[in-house]
Amino acid sequence: MEKTFNDLIFSGVQPTGNLHLGNYLGAIKNWVELQNNNKCIFCIVDLHAFTVPRNCISIKNNILEVAAAYIAAGIDPKRNIIFVQSHVSYHSELSWILSCFTPIGWLNRMTQFKDKAGKNKEKAPLGLYSYPVLMAADILLYKATKVPVGDDQKQHLELSRNISQAFNRFYETDFFPIPDPLIIGTAARVMSLRDGTKKMSKSDPSDFSRINLKDSSDEISKKIRKAKTDSLDFPKNEIELEARPEIQNLIKIFASVSDTSIQQVINEFHQRDFIFFKESLKEILNQKINSISVEMQKILNDETFLKKILKDGAEKANEIGAKNMKEIRDIMGCF
Ligand code: TYM
Repeated sequence: MEKTFNDLIFSGVQPTGNLHLGNYLGAIKNWVELQNNNKCIFCIVDLHAFTVPRNCISIKNNILEVAAAYIAAGIDPKRNIIFVQSHVSYHSELSWILSCFTPIGWLNRMTQFKDKAGKNKEKAPLGLYSYPVLMAADILLYKATKVPVGDDQKQHLELSRNISQAFNRFYETDFFPIPDPLIIGTAARVMSLRDGTKKMSKSDPSDFSRINLKDSSDEISKKIRKAKTDSLDFPKNEIELEARPEIQNLIKIFASVSDTSIQQVINEFHQRDFIFFKESLKEILNQKINSISVEMQKILNDETFLKKILKDGAEKANEIGAKNMKEIRDIMGCF
């Protein structure tokens, strides 16, 4: 008998290189849990990677790397759909349709666009501005009900919900679900190791700001050793963490990687110093990240296997996309 699922889960990562601990703890690690009780679709969102025009060869290589990371982290390609966004052209078609239901005022509020465009807004590409509409199309094309992401995607998810409702309202339908963001765990926003007020990011010029999934044990150890702390004692309670962003970040990372709570980490280390804490953090990170990195490399060595998974995934995604896109066109009655 076919298993009935609670929810349809959709999420994705951009193939922009330097997959890091934030991508893993904020997103991919949670997907591994969710695959047990839900139908899941995990996308490699290459069209999004192009919002800042880049070399297609690097995007192509990074696609395989992201696919390998999904599988190495524990996503089962037999139970879930893993595919590349540009292999399903309905994403772009739906994105255009949804853009016609998205007031410019909604996009003007997107903080990520403001951050990325900086002072040069007039010269920023239209794709960077309309990117959240493509993200809504990714989710709604599959009628996903839950979207597990890191905290930085909250505002984009809110927009997807608004766009879904705007379409449904106009056509007096309940065709699109209103997707719920799933922002789970203690590490939904992993911060830079050099500055606890800045998000850990692929684009930070300092490699010491992040732990990459491909880092060797030596690199991880060096980065944790250099991670910024302060001169105070190890905190005794969670309230103390509020004014100490770097310490809060390291404790949250520890809690997430070891599947414990922040308070448990504090209880374990509050009578110790940061050197001791960092030694333990290095150890658990080395175990976790290194096992993913070794597995990733093994998978990457078998390109035929990876490409077959992406081809099968694209077939399945195209099947769902074609069916839903036909219904969308029928509801609209124009095309
Ligand atoms: P991207 O590629 O920037 O990041 C992929 C996932 O990693 C999470 N993440 C973090 N989580 C915690 N701490 C961090 N420092 C950190 N940095 C990144 C992100 O929140 C994300 O979950 N727009 C998306 C990709 C996307 C998507 C979608 C996601 C496109 N279409 C549809 C969900 C559904 C993005 O740029 O993610």
